[in-house]
Amino acid sequence: MANVIVIGSQWGDEGKGKITDLLSRSADVVVRYQGGVNAGHTIVVQGQTFKLHLIPSGILYPGTECIIGCGTVIDPQVLIKELEQLEQLNISTKNLLISQTAHVTMPYHRLIDKASEDKRGNHKIGTTGRGIGPTYADKSERTGIRMLDLMHPEELRKQLKWTINYKNSVLEKLYDLPPLDPEAVIEEYLGYAERLRPFVVDTSLKIYDAVQKKRNILFEGAQGTLLDLDHGTYPYVTSSNPVAGGACVGTGLGPTMIDRVIGVSKAYTTRVGEGPFPTELEGEIGDILGDRGAEFGTTTGRKRRCGWFDAVIGRYAVRINGMDCMAITKLDVLDTLDEIKVCVAYEIDGQRTEHFPSSARQFARCRPIYQTLPGWKVSTTECRTLEDLPKKALEYLKFLAELMAVPIAIVSLGASRDQTIIVEDPIHGPKRALLHADGTPVAV
Ligand code: IMP
Repeated sequence: MANVIVIGSQWGDEGKGKITDLLSRSADVVVRYQGGVNAGHTIVVQGQTFKLHLIPSGILYPGTECIIGCGTVIDPQVLIKELEQLEQLNISTKNLLISQTAHVTMPYHRLIDKASEDKRGNHKIGTTGRGIGPTYADKSERTGIRMLDLMHPEELRKQLKWTINYKNSVLEKLYDLPPLDPEAVIEEYLGYAERLRPFVVDTSLKIYDAVQKKRNILFEGAQGTLLDLDHGTYPYVTSSNPVAGGACVGTGLGPTMIDRVIGVSKAYTTRVGEGPFPTELEGEIGDILGDRGAEFGTTTGRKRRCGWFDAVIGRYAVRINGMDCMAITKLDVLDTLDEIKVCVAYEIDGQRTEHFPSSARQFARCRPIYQTLPGWKVSTTECRTLEDLPKKALEYLKFLAELMAVPIAIVSLGASRDQTIIVEDPIHGPKRALLHADGTPVAV
């Protein structure tokens, strides 16, 4: 039995969807603990592509319970579309549960998100425009609407009348936008409430119960470590806590009940939105990574910025999340390169540092110090064991594991479920995964 958290160790889009989908095979319960419809997972099963924003990918396994935890923010319109998409494909949604204390994204949140980005000019964050920041801001300000509120029509009506009037003054006076019609919004959300009512429960109780019954629970993080509100590259972050610690707060489960943390990293780095990115490649190699890796956002379709693997960020993610092992994704994207660089440290104001700076201003001044490794120049997409990999690709992986001082449990070489090397199953395997084919630990 193991309760495992899967987190992104970079700026999101690490390919967590595929890894959580794979691990969901061994999980009885899959829980999403933060974020909202800013996230997007693309999963390819038997040639069919699924794009999920809120519903955990475990829904694709009949019998797996899927929970959207209290740390998430829920846009009911998108969630209902997702339910319909799955139901049309004959995928049962009866095992889905939604936390009654998760906050709800309202139309004014989306409007304010977009309008405030426009007002920021050069200081814009590059948000997904899905109303995420304003929904979490209301949660902190204690004016938010929760799933529980949606379940009580008369009280919701009163609460929304007040809130929409208040938000209308913000829309009109601050952003020059037309006001929302309170009645129309109330009716719209009352409709959503009835559709979602069967799914809404006290999920923390369900999760605790699953722990007591020694069921395998997989906690699925959205976005990534560097987008964390507290530990990321603030202010260019999202408004929730994607780090492993967020799984406890965002589900209501105590930390002593978590067994393992697996971090997912791409074999290179990508970022969407604004903010510093030391290993960013703006020329031909950046384009090769972007094209071969199909680096466009699942949610917004925006082109992702691409760069070399950054081990300073990697080590930071290991520390902040308490990672015990990692999954490396998209190794195949590097297949055609003559040589591959890895950032092993930064130079900042003439000094070498191996630590990630907590100040955004300092981070913006960091210059990467690279070590160059030879490329392998053959396709890895058909490799299914470590022994199948070209020697130089294996050396690249070993180098990453040594730099980050955690073993590699999974290597992904394409979008399909079978394009994967499972070195050790992080749910059923021993505490430490192994990288070397002879079974010796790479880094402990
Ligand atoms: P927000 O979460 O929409 O407020 O956006 C804040 C920042 O997080 C922006 O830089 C977004 O591009 C980034 N972001 C949010 N969700 C994701 C994601 O799922 N993958 C990658 N970046 C994301």
